[in-house]
Amino acid sequence: MPHWSRFPEVFSGSQPMALSLGAFFLILTAVGAIFLCCFGDVYYSVSMRKKFVVRDLHDPLCPGETADNLFWFVQVSDLHISRFHEPERTTDFERFCTEYIDAIKPALVLVTGDLTDAKTEEGFGSRQYEVEWQTYRTILKHSRVMEKTKWIDIRGNHDSFNMPSLSSITNYYRSYSAYKQNGSFLYVHRTQYGNYSFLCVDATIVPGPKRPFNFFGILDQAKMDELVRLSKQTSQTNHTIWFGHYTTSTILSPSFSLRRLMSSGTAYLCGHLHTLGGVFPTMYARHASGLLELELGDWKTNRRFRVMVFDHDLMTFADSRLGNWPLVLVTNPKPARLMLQGREPLARIACSTHIRILAFSSSPVKSVVVEINRMFLGNASHVKGPLYILSWVPRNYDANHLHHISVTVTDAEGRANTNGHNFVLSGEARDSFSTLSTFLLLVNMQQLGQWGFILCVLFSLLPLVVFRFWPVSKGTVAQSDYFRMGKEFCSCNQMFYPLVAFNLYTALGKASHRS
Ligand SMILES: *[C@@H]1O[C@H](CO)[C@@H](O)[C@H](O)[C@H]1NC(C)=O
Repeated sequence: MPHWSRFPEVFSGSQPMALSLGAFFLILTAVGAIFLCCFGDVYYSVSMRKKFVVRDLHDPLCPGETADNLFWFVQVSDLHISRFHEPERTTDFERFCTEYIDAIKPALVLVTGDLTDAKTEEGFGSRQYEVEWQTYRTILKHSRVMEKTKWIDIRGNHDSFNMPSLSSITNYYRSYSAYKQNGSFLYVHRTQYGNYSFLCVDATIVPGPKRPFNFFGILDQAKMDELVRLSKQTSQTNHTIWFGHYTTSTILSPSFSLRRLMSSGTAYLCGHLHTLGGVFPTMYARHASGLLELELGDWKTNRRFRVMVFDHDLMTFADSRLGNWPLVLVTNPKPARLMLQGREPLARIACSTHIRILAFSSSPVKSVVVEINRMFLGNASHVKGPLYILSWVPRNYDANHLHHISVTVTDAEGRANTNGHNFVLSGEARDSFSTLSTFLLLVNMQQLGQWGFILCVLFSLLPLVVFRFWPVSKGTVAQSDYFRMGKEFCSCNQMFYPLVAFNLYTALGKASHRS
């Protein structure tokens, strides 16, 4: 006899025990299902251990000592230019557009939404103020930043508060921004060594509701179709960078297909969550597909910005903040946790002849000191612009272990900064983004909301049903006064049925409207 044949015995022998056993398994299954739906992406991302297989060791494009196959760009997010609060936000931004852009000289700048604050003075209400947009426009004009670089600014939820339609007069983005492009779009950065796609995901809601009703972005089917069309045009490019205002966890899309659509991209750059009150200075995650989602802290209170580099098609980035010169970025060897198997020619790290560093500062750079595994390796020498190099022999470093490189840059004013990371030449590397930030970026808020709703409905219905149908027996909770009161209440048909009908209608009446 198979052992499970004893089960009926259990059921017939002791009914309460069978009941609690059944309930236990039911709850376990339900919790498991909810967990998978909401946190599946988080789980896969955190548990993933990437193995890097280096295939082609005779790549013709090994990073060396020349300043070619190299460009970089800047991202800044959530400016929140306000007519009421903190005028330094604006003056600092003007400084960013002059001193910082002049020193960094990026190929392009992405401003990922919330250009203006659009909040009323006391901070509760929302309204589009033309004067905030005029301030933004004036900064762009005075700093001549649009002549110095490609300036791509997009709308965030604050820029679409209280906006009846895109053609409305209060869509000040149309008149005062630099890029003026409503909806999603594709910008291709073309160079002699390759093409790089920048694909904007516009999930802002039209018409734009007031605060606090547009915390989530929405991509309806038409917007998704548009994104599919745009993404097809990126298939021949060296890298595709997706960018938008909202994190993917705060975008609602039909059957949540945005992450799938972006899966062949390199990274998705966004803002919106700021630093969650300073708790998360950086929020990075790797999707199950390998795509990196990189949230950038806000300009509003943290004055953050990001520099991202493509050096021989290997991607690196650094997040920095105002007043933190010099800025140091080691582009080769790149950080192990940013390696993108299948999207980057990773074999180039092992065949490279030089360590490559970008060092930016508002005053001349005096020294660039390189250490590997805490041992001094040498002083890097200047090539051109921000590029510094130091020759190295990758073969000297055990290919299957993580190594640590750190670079200290000092400028003429005596300011110094050190930046370092782990790198790996092949073999196994572990993703080391924090679990909590992965959670915030990858949790499926859409499913979480749906399950929350279902639970709320159950919480309002279950007590009614329990009170009515639970048999009163001796020596249990059923003896308590509260239970008896509830039972009395629910035994009354005039009370019970209207309440059940009301709860069911609230839950299902809406659903039947949907189709
Ligand atoms: C970009 O892609 C093209 C075509 O695949 C390739 O020939 C070129 O070497 C790539 N550029 C870089 C910097 O790797």
